[in-house]
Amino acid sequence: MTDSTQPPAGLSQDDLKTANQAGWDEAADLHRAHPQFAALLEGFATPGFSCFDDFANRRLRTLEMTGKSVAQLCCNNARELLSIKNIGAGRCVGFDFSQAFLDQGRELAAAGQLEAEFVQTEISAIPDEYNESFDLAVMTIGVLGWMPNLTTFFATVSRVLRPGGRLFLYEDHPILNMYPDGEQDMPPVPDESYFRSTPYQSKSGLDYGSGKTYDAQPVYWIFHRMSDVVMGVVRNDFAIEEFEELPYDIGTRPSYENQSQQLPLSYILFARKE
Ligand SMILES: C[S@@+](CC[C@H](N)C(=O)[O-])C[C@H]1O[C@@H](n2cnc3c(N)ncnc32)[C@H](O)[C@@H]1O
Repeated sequence: MTDSTQPPAGLSQDDLKTANQAGWDEAADLHRAHPQFAALLEGFATPGFSCFDDFANRRLRTLEMTGKSVAQLCCNNARELLSIKNIGAGRCVGFDFSQAFLDQGRELAAAGQLEAEFVQTEISAIPDEYNESFDLAVMTIGVLGWMPNLTTFFATVSRVLRPGGRLFLYEDHPILNMYPDGEQDMPPVPDESYFRSTPYQSKSGLDYGSGKTYDAQPVYWIFHRMSDVVMGVVRNDFAIEEFEELPYDIGTRPSYENQSQQLPLSYILFARKE
Protein backbone atom coordinates (compact mmCIF):
# COMPACT_ATOMS: atom_id res chain seq x y z
CA MET A 1 0.00 0.00 0.00
CA THR A 2 1.34 3.40 -0.93
CA ASP A 3 0.00 6.58 0.53
CA SER A 4 1.34 10.07 0.14
CA THR A 5 -0.49 13.12 1.37
CA GLN A 6 1.11 15.66 -0.97
CA PRO A 7 -0.33 16.17 -4.49
CA PRO A 8 2.03 16.62 -7.44
CA ALA A 9 2.64 20.30 -8.23
CA GLY A 10 0.51 22.07 -10.84
CA LEU A 11 -2.69 20.00 -10.69
CA SER A 12 -5.69 21.99 -11.88
CA GLN A 13 -9.20 21.63 -10.43
CA ASP A 14 -10.15 19.67 -13.55
CA ASP A 15 -7.17 17.34 -13.01
CA LEU A 16 -8.38 16.68 -9.46
CA LYS A 17 -11.90 15.87 -10.65
CA THR A 18 -10.64 13.59 -13.45
CA ALA A 19 -8.45 11.66 -11.01
CA ASN A 20 -11.29 11.43 -8.50
CA GLN A 21 -13.73 10.13 -11.12
CA ALA A 22 -11.27 7.35 -12.03
CA GLY A 23 -10.82 6.55 -8.32
CA TRP A 24 -14.57 6.25 -7.74
CA ASP A 25 -15.11 4.10 -10.83
CA GLU A 26 -12.25 1.87 -9.67
CA ALA A 27 -13.90 1.38 -6.26
CA ALA A 28 -17.40 0.60 -7.55
CA ASP A 29 -17.10 -3.18 -7.90
CA LEU A 30 -15.66 -3.42 -4.37
CA HIS A 31 -18.66 -1.52 -2.96
CA ARG A 32 -21.02 -3.67 -5.03
CA ALA A 33 -19.54 -6.81 -3.42
CA HIS A 34 -20.02 -5.60 0.18
CA PRO A 35 -22.57 -7.17 2.50
CA GLN A 36 -23.83 -3.57 2.99
CA PHE A 37 -24.97 -3.49 -0.64
CA ALA A 38 -26.74 -6.84 -0.31
CA ALA A 39 -28.43 -5.46 2.83
CA LEU A 40 -29.60 -2.41 0.86
CA LEU A 41 -31.02 -4.62 -1.91
CA GLU A 42 -32.91 -6.56 0.73
CA GLY A 43 -33.93 -3.38 2.57
CA PHE A 44 -35.40 -1.68 -0.48
CA ALA A 45 -37.43 -4.79 -1.24
CA THR A 46 -39.46 -3.83 1.85
CA PRO A 47 -41.90 -0.98 1.15
CA GLY A 48 -41.03 2.24 3.00
CA PHE A 49 -37.41 1.26 3.72
CA SER A 50 -35.05 4.08 4.75
CA CYS A 51 -31.27 4.00 5.12
CA PHE A 52 -31.33 7.23 7.16
CA ASP A 53 -30.79 7.09 10.91
CA ASP A 54 -33.65 8.06 13.22
CA PHE A 55 -32.30 11.56 13.74
CA ALA A 56 -32.16 12.41 10.01
CA ASN A 57 -35.46 10.66 9.37
CA ARG A 58 -37.21 12.80 11.98
CA ARG A 59 -35.74 15.97 10.46
CA LEU A 60 -36.70 14.97 6.92
CA ARG A 61 -40.22 14.17 7.96
CA THR A 62 -40.67 17.75 9.21
CA LEU A 63 -40.57 18.69 5.50
CA GLU A 64 -43.78 17.66 3.78
CA MET A 65 -42.26 15.55 1.00
CA THR A 66 -45.39 14.25 -0.71
CA GLY A 67 -45.02 14.83 -4.45
CA LYS A 68 -41.93 17.04 -4.01
CA SER A 69 -39.14 16.87 -6.59
CA VAL A 70 -35.77 15.88 -5.16
CA ALA A 71 -32.20 15.99 -6.49
CA GLN A 72 -29.32 14.18 -4.82
CA LEU A 73 -25.95 15.62 -5.81
CA CYS A 74 -23.06 13.11 -5.70
CA CYS A 75 -25.65 10.44 -5.08
CA ASN A 76 -23.32 7.41 -5.30
CA ASN A 77 -25.73 4.42 -5.19
CA ALA A 78 -28.61 6.80 -4.35
CA ARG A 79 -29.62 4.96 -1.19
CA GLU A 80 -30.62 8.29 0.43
CA LEU A 81 -32.52 9.54 -2.63
CA LEU A 82 -34.50 6.29 -2.77
CA SER A 83 -35.19 6.52 0.98
CA ILE A 84 -36.70 9.97 0.38
CA LYS A 85 -38.74 8.53 -2.50
CA ASN A 86 -40.07 6.06 0.05
CA ILE A 87 -41.52 8.88 2.20
CA GLY A 88 -43.61 10.12 -0.71
CA ALA A 89 -41.33 12.29 -2.86
CA GLY A 90 -42.31 12.81 -6.50
CA ARG A 91 -39.66 13.12 -9.21
CA CYS A 92 -36.27 11.94 -7.89
CA VAL A 93 -33.02 12.51 -9.80
CA GLY A 94 -29.56 11.37 -8.72
CA PHE A 95 -26.46 13.05 -10.16
CA ASP A 96 -22.96 11.55 -9.99
CA PHE A 97 -19.95 11.29 -12.28
CA SER A 98 -19.49 7.57 -11.67
CA GLN A 99 -21.60 5.55 -14.11
CA ALA A 100 -20.74 2.38 -12.19
CA PHE A 101 -22.28 3.73 -8.96
CA LEU A 102 -25.34 5.04 -10.82
CA ASP A 103 -25.85 1.50 -12.14
CA GLN A 104 -25.93 0.32 -8.52
CA GLY A 105 -28.56 3.01 -7.86
CA ARG A 106 -30.64 1.57 -10.70
CA GLU A 107 -30.36 -1.87 -9.10
CA LEU A 108 -31.56 -0.53 -5.74
CA ALA A 109 -34.43 1.33 -7.42
CA ALA A 110 -35.44 -1.88 -9.22
CA ALA A 111 -35.31 -3.82 -5.94
CA GLY A 112 -37.81 -1.36 -4.43
CA GLN A 113 -39.80 -0.86 -7.65
CA LEU A 114 -39.07 2.82 -7.20
CA GLU A 115 -39.03 5.31 -10.03
CA ALA A 116 -35.90 7.46 -10.16
CA GLU A 117 -33.68 9.04 -12.79
CA PHE A 118 -29.90 8.77 -12.79
CA VAL A 119 -27.71 11.30 -14.57
CA GLN A 120 -24.01 10.78 -15.14
CA THR A 121 -22.34 14.19 -14.91
CA GLU A 122 -19.65 16.12 -13.14
CA ILE A 123 -21.58 18.21 -10.64
CA SER A 124 -20.71 21.68 -11.94
CA ALA A 125 -21.71 20.46 -15.44
CA ILE A 126 -25.28 19.39 -14.56
CA PRO A 127 -27.16 20.24 -17.79
CA ASP A 128 -29.22 23.44 -17.84
CA GLU A 129 -32.40 21.46 -18.46
CA TYR A 130 -32.36 20.74 -14.68
CA ASN A 131 -32.23 24.43 -13.69
CA GLU A 132 -34.92 25.42 -11.16
CA SER A 133 -36.35 21.89 -11.28
CA PHE A 134 -36.27 20.73 -7.66
CA ASP A 135 -37.94 21.42 -4.31
CA LEU A 136 -35.15 19.73 -2.35
CA ALA A 137 -31.43 19.16 -3.02
CA VAL A 138 -29.76 16.55 -0.83
CA MET A 139 -26.06 16.07 -0.11
CA THR A 140 -24.90 13.50 2.43
CA ILE A 141 -21.84 11.93 4.01
CA GLY A 142 -18.63 12.56 2.18
CA VAL A 143 -19.55 14.93 -0.63
CA LEU A 144 -18.08 18.36 0.12
CA GLY A 145 -14.44 17.24 0.38
CA TRP A 146 -14.50 16.25 -3.31
CA MET A 147 -15.48 19.77 -4.31
CA PRO A 148 -12.56 22.10 -5.02
CA ASN A 149 -14.63 25.20 -4.19
CA LEU A 150 -17.75 25.31 -2.02
CA THR A 151 -19.04 28.67 -3.23
CA THR A 152 -19.08 27.23 -6.76
CA PHE A 153 -20.62 23.99 -5.53
CA PHE A 154 -23.50 25.73 -3.71
CA ALA A 155 -24.05 27.89 -6.83
CA THR A 156 -24.85 24.64 -8.66
CA VAL A 157 -27.14 23.56 -5.81
CA SER A 158 -28.93 26.92 -6.08
CA ARG A 159 -29.14 26.62 -9.89
CA VAL A 160 -31.07 23.34 -9.78
CA LEU A 161 -33.48 24.47 -7.03
CA ARG A 162 -36.74 26.30 -7.59
CA PRO A 163 -37.11 29.63 -5.79
CA GLY A 164 -38.15 28.69 -2.24
CA GLY A 165 -36.56 25.23 -2.62
CA ARG A 166 -34.39 23.82 0.15
CA LEU A 167 -30.99 22.27 0.49
CA PHE A 168 -30.45 19.50 3.03
CA LEU A 169 -26.87 18.77 4.02
CA TYR A 170 -25.98 15.92 6.37
CA GLU A 171 -22.20 15.65 6.48
CA ASP A 172 -19.17 14.55 8.43
CA HIS A 173 -17.83 17.39 10.55
CA PRO A 174 -14.76 18.97 8.90
CA ILE A 175 -12.79 18.75 12.16
CA LEU A 176 -12.46 15.01 11.39
CA ASN A 177 -10.05 15.95 8.57
CA MET A 178 -7.50 16.55 11.34
CA TYR A 179 -7.49 12.88 12.42
CA PRO A 180 -6.13 9.73 10.73
CA ASP A 181 -8.62 7.59 8.78
CA GLY A 182 -10.43 4.80 10.56
CA GLU A 183 -10.78 3.95 14.21
CA GLN A 184 -8.24 5.32 16.74
CA ASP A 185 -7.44 4.91 20.40
CA MET A 186 -9.29 7.52 22.40
CA PRO A 187 -8.67 10.39 22.63
CA PRO A 188 -7.56 10.51 18.97
CA VAL A 189 -4.38 12.41 18.11
CA PRO A 190 -4.61 14.90 15.21
CA ASP A 191 -2.12 14.48 12.38
CA GLU A 192 -3.27 17.33 10.12
CA SER A 193 -4.03 21.02 10.46
CA TYR A 194 -7.69 22.07 10.32
CA PHE A 195 -6.41 24.83 8.02
CA ARG A 196 -4.56 22.60 5.52
CA SER A 197 -4.71 24.40 2.18
CA THR A 198 -3.31 21.83 -0.29
CA PRO A 199 -5.46 18.89 -1.44
CA TYR A 200 -4.85 15.67 0.46
CA GLN A 201 -3.68 12.92 -1.89
CA SER A 202 -4.56 9.32 -1.07
CA LYS A 203 -3.48 6.22 -2.95
CA SER A 204 -4.93 3.66 -0.58
CA GLY A 205 -8.34 3.34 -2.22
CA LEU A 206 -11.97 4.15 -1.49
CA ASP A 207 -13.13 0.87 -0.01
CA TYR A 208 -14.17 2.53 3.24
CA GLY A 209 -17.02 0.04 3.71
CA SER A 210 -14.60 -2.79 4.46
CA GLY A 211 -11.70 -0.57 5.57
CA LYS A 212 -9.42 -2.55 3.19
CA THR A 213 -6.72 -0.66 1.33
CA TYR A 214 -5.32 -1.33 -2.14
CA ASP A 215 -2.77 0.18 -4.48
CA ALA A 216 -5.19 2.66 -5.97
CA GLN A 217 -5.62 5.46 -8.43
CA PRO A 218 -4.61 8.66 -6.50
CA VAL A 219 -7.59 10.72 -5.37
CA TYR A 220 -7.70 14.22 -3.93
CA TRP A 221 -9.67 15.46 -0.93
CA ILE A 222 -10.02 19.13 -0.04
CA PHE A 223 -10.10 20.36 3.56
CA HIS A 224 -12.95 22.83 3.92
CA ARG A 225 -13.59 24.65 7.17
CA MET A 226 -17.04 24.90 8.69
CA SER A 227 -16.92 28.62 7.85
CA ASP A 228 -16.36 27.69 4.14
CA VAL A 229 -19.52 25.59 4.27
CA VAL A 230 -21.63 28.29 5.91
CA MET A 231 -20.29 31.08 3.70
CA GLY A 232 -20.66 28.95 0.54
CA VAL A 233 -24.35 28.59 1.38
CA VAL A 234 -24.91 32.23 2.40
CA ARG A 235 -23.02 33.67 -0.61
CA ASN A 236 -25.48 31.88 -2.88
CA ASP A 237 -28.50 33.66 -1.37
CA PHE A 238 -29.70 30.83 0.81
CA ALA A 239 -31.28 31.60 4.18
CA ILE A 240 -30.07 29.08 6.75
CA GLU A 241 -33.09 27.68 8.59
CA GLU A 242 -31.36 25.10 10.74
CA PHE A 243 -27.73 24.28 11.47
CA GLU A 244 -26.73 21.87 14.19
CA GLU A 245 -23.36 20.27 15.00
CA LEU A 246 -23.82 16.75 16.28
CA PRO A 247 -21.97 14.11 18.36
CA TYR A 248 -23.09 11.29 16.02
CA ASP A 249 -20.74 9.35 13.75
CA ILE A 250 -22.31 9.06 10.29
CA GLY A 251 -19.23 7.59 8.64
CA THR A 252 -16.62 5.12 9.74
CA ARG A 253 -15.66 6.25 13.26
CA PRO A 254 -18.14 4.84 15.77
CA SER A 255 -15.48 4.74 18.50
CA TYR A 256 -15.38 8.57 18.42
CA GLU A 257 -18.90 8.65 19.90
CA ASN A 258 -19.79 8.85 23.60
CA GLN A 259 -16.53 10.41 24.76
CA SER A 260 -16.26 12.64 27.80
CA GLN A 261 -14.39 15.22 25.67
CA GLN A 262 -16.72 14.83 22.71
CA LEU A 263 -15.65 16.07 19.27
CA PRO A 264 -18.37 17.22 16.87
CA LEU A 265 -18.72 14.34 14.38
CA SER A 266 -21.41 15.45 11.97
CA TYR A 267 -23.79 18.31 11.25
CA ILE A 268 -27.12 18.95 9.65
CA LEU A 269 -28.01 22.08 7.71
CA PHE A 270 -31.25 23.14 6.07
CA ALA A 271 -31.35 26.31 3.98
CA ARG A 272 -33.98 27.88 1.76
CA LYS A 273 -33.25 29.47 -1.61
CA GLU A 274 -34.44 33.06 -1.35
C1 LIG B 1 -18.79 9.38 -0.41
S1 LIG B 1 -19.80 9.24 -1.83
C2 LIG B 1 -21.34 9.80 -1.24
C3 LIG B 1 -21.86 8.75 -0.36
C4 LIG B 1 -23.36 8.68 -0.18
N1 LIG B 1 -23.86 9.88 0.37
C5 LIG B 1 -23.64 7.53 0.71
O1 LIG B 1 -23.53 7.69 1.95
O2 LIG B 1 -23.89 6.46 0.19
C6 LIG B 1 -19.27 10.58 -2.86
C7 LIG B 1 -19.80 10.49 -4.28
O3 LIG B 1 -19.47 11.71 -4.93
C8 LIG B 1 -19.19 11.45 -6.29
N2 LIG B 1 -18.42 12.61 -6.78
C9 LIG B 1 -17.27 13.09 -6.24
N3 LIG B 1 -16.88 14.20 -6.91
C10 LIG B 1 -17.81 14.42 -7.89
C11 LIG B 1 -17.97 15.40 -8.90
N4 LIG B 1 -17.08 16.40 -9.03
N5 LIG B 1 -19.04 15.32 -9.72
C12 LIG B 1 -19.93 14.30 -9.61
N6 LIG B 1 -19.84 13.33 -8.65
C13 LIG B 1 -18.79 13.39 -7.81
C14 LIG B 1 -18.47 10.12 -6.28
O4 LIG B 1 -18.56 9.44 -7.52
C15 LIG B 1 -19.20 9.38 -5.14
O5 LIG B 1 -20.23 8.57 -5.66
